[in-house]
Amino acid sequence: MVRRPVHAPATNKTRLPAGFFVSGSGERPRCGSRSLENAAQRTYFAPMTTYLDVTATTPRTRTGAIKLHGPDAFAGMRRAGRIAAETLDALVPLVKPGVSTGDLDDFARDAIVAAGAVPINIGYQGYRHASCISVNHVVCHGIPGDKALSEGDILNIDLTAVVDGWHGDTSRMFLVGDVPLKAKRLVDVTYECLMLGVEAAVPGNRLGDIGHAIQRHAEKHRYSVVRDFVGHGVGLVYHDEPDVHHYGRPGTGPELRPGMIFTIEPMINIGKPGVKILDDDWTAVTRDRSLSAQFEHSIGITETGPEIFTQSPKGLNHPPYR
Ligand code: MF3
Ligand code: CO
Ligand code: CO
Repeated sequence: MVRRPVHAPATNKTRLPAGFFVSGSGERPRCGSRSLENAAQRTYFAPMTTYLDVTATTPRTRTGAIKLHGPDAFAGMRRAGRIAAETLDALVPLVKPGVSTGDLDDFARDAIVAAGAVPINIGYQGYRHASCISVNHVVCHGIPGDKALSEGDILNIDLTAVVDGWHGDTSRMFLVGDVPLKAKRLVDVTYECLMLGVEAAVPGNRLGDIGHAIQRHAEKHRYSVVRDFVGHGVGLVYHDEPDVHHYGRPGTGPELRPGMIFTIEPMINIGKPGVKILDDDWTAVTRDRSLSAQFEHSIGITETGPEIFTQSPKGLNHPPYR
């Protein structure tokens, strides 16, 4: 996921008319800006969602438009998504008390390479690992290392495999041995949130319908939705338009059209939604140290509904994985 970008939709807090966008302070920080603290000093402009039919000559960069992809893109995303999902499948038996997150990352890197794909997170924005492994109160972007997993931990493993330039980006939660019911419930509801978001990804709906479906379900269970990170367009570009917020109002935001390809990756907290970034400049943790969970799929919009590129070939989409 990416930190909320500079050109982020206005929040209710800023009391802007719905659909208005806030322009940033100029420079685009590494992963986008974190908040609208200085909203009062910023300028506003009317909403302008543009769509771009991808051809062979379309720039492999963010262009500001939402890309509409053809059959070749869907075929490429299927291959990349499958390798990413198979890598998560292969990690299932390794997640046990005593194993370190660094060991899991080494395995993930080797598996992606052995499958003929590129572990693109290595070197991305200075990141040095194939996966992000986020344990317990870590929301996302946990850095793999020497720390061993303990019985009762919950963790997210997020990895991306690139095939012929196509990015398959996916993450799942894992449970270490016996996990308290409270944590298992959070994991179950977070998976339900992802899938409710996916089900809302049909042509004619809007992005806000996806966010709303997720938020409604999370808040029904008295959990909170993390605001500081969003899902994203994906394809030949890792983090592309549009930003996919995991909260929202029905009928708002850009219309969903066939050919759109993006991730949905809700981060759901037991406590408050606030996060802070640790001194390593990556690790995001809940401010109140409450548990956080996340699942991610890369999907494409077709005439008849969503296609999930990162389904588990082994049916291991969510725990328990026995
Ligand atoms: N896979 C993450 C996402 O879901 C991004 C990780 S970037 C990294 O968008 F550099 F931290 F690996
Ligand atoms: Co992502
Ligand atoms: Co990811």
